[in-house]
Amino acid sequence: MTDNYPTSLFSANLKFSNQNQHGGELSIAGCSASKIVKEFGSPVFVLDEEDFYLRTKAWKAALEKSFAGGQLYYAAKSFICVEVAKWLKELKVGLDVCTQGELAVALAADFPTSDIEFHGNNKSESEIEFAIKSSVGTIVIDSFDELARVARVAKNQGKVQKVYLRLTPGVDTQTHQFISTAHEDVKFGFSIAAGDAQIAIDKCMAEGSINLAGVHCHIGSQIFQVDSFQLAATRLIAVLASYRDKYGKELPELNIGGGYAIAYTENETAISPNEVIPAIAAVIKSECEKAKLAIPKISIEPGRAIVGPTTTTIYQVGTTKSVKLENGLSRRYISVDGGMSDNIRPALYEANYCAFLANRSSSEKSISSRVVGKHCESGDILISEIELPADIAPGDLLAIPATGAYGRSMASNYNHMPRPSVIAVKAGQGREILRRENEADLLSLDVTQAPRPLS
Ligand code: LLP
Repeated sequence: MTDNYPTSLFSANLKFSNQNQHGGELSIAGCSASKIVKEFGSPVFVLDEEDFYLRTKAWKAALEKSFAGGQLYYAAKSFICVEVAKWLKELKVGLDVCTQGELAVALAADFPTSDIEFHGNNKSESEIEFAIKSSVGTIVIDSFDELARVARVAKNQGKVQKVYLRLTPGVDTQTHQFISTAHEDVKFGFSIAAGDAQIAIDKCMAEGSINLAGVHCHIGSQIFQVDSFQLAATRLIAVLASYRDKYGKELPELNIGGGYAIAYTENETAISPNEVIPAIAAVIKSECEKAKLAIPKISIEPGRAIVGPTTTTIYQVGTTKSVKLENGLSRRYISVDGGMSDNIRPALYEANYCAFLANRSSSEKSISSRVVGKHCESGDILISEIELPADIAPGDLLAIPATGAYGRSMASNYNHMPRPSVIAVKAGQGREILRRENEADLLSLDVTQAPRPLS
């Protein structure tokens, strides 16, 4: 590690009461796991507020150090609520939203709309109308249909809308296929190799209500390979050069998306902004120099890298059981009070996590365990195989770190489970920033209507 950026799976203020080892009571920002659960219930997402600030500032500073005028957009899909949007406003970073719902959260936080970019591969006409009416800074156009839609809506509103084009640079990344987005056979963006990117540029140039300011790519998520980002940037710069050759002027902006990997287990190390940004900058600078282009305004859109490690989920153990395996060994199942409804990532992407006993120490030996949820699915597995103390019993607390990104944001109500609360902790104090759902919330959607003819 060449800097002070925290690259482990833990948030900066997470501690275990037994020094120098994982053991004892877990506390985050001075709040013990037991007290958090006593006050707020479980399962609960515990967000280390200072850590969120630290990471956001680190990515912003690294970007600004490598690129004058560089712009950081936080990817709201990883996790957003009104309070977090207010933090981001205070931190003076931009926001990447991809639905009207995410935009509504930003508006509720009074987020400056000029610092918002609007993504998505299927934005509806009404979403585009709402976005343009709300004066979002940039719309990232994803398809030919949408290009026509944005042009039409902007024209109807008497506006000229700033846009980027999302391009697919044809980079195959080493990540799960469901979170890889820049190879050719994917639903997102305009292919550079197939010539769609050039056609989309020409169409934008012909539309008076569109101001094409730059190009964008997002090659996927949880990517450790720095050279994938470098290759994508190189291919986008080639597009900027051909634009200059055709139109005799330069596109001023380049957005290279998010996707920076974090640690989920103890043998992984997160990508540090102080390593990856200068490495990407070196390539962008040399490619621009070769092509005789001015360095465009660079923006990035990390989500996971900022919010992922800030948050730890605390569960309570409900039942345990031991099963005999065919090979003669045994496996102990530990069932917790949440599961695939608050963390779908293991089931969907075979994502790996770690768990720790969080309310006490144990001197028992660790045994092969499987941490499972309470849903009616065999696939409701949070951690397939992990060594955990043999005396873990009902009532104990288990903590799973690095659940801040795509945990609460992908949570569901499967089996009519209320979605957990998100608690921000800081300097020994805790507060809800997203309250726990309750049965009344769930039942509020049920209606009894008389049948009526459809018009
Ligand atoms: N920009 C765009 C256009 C994106 O589509 C995404 C994520 C990001 C930025 C932020 O990517 P990040 O820095 O967070 O990796 N649910 C999956 C991840 C899906 C990512 C979707 N797009 C997961 O849990 O791994």
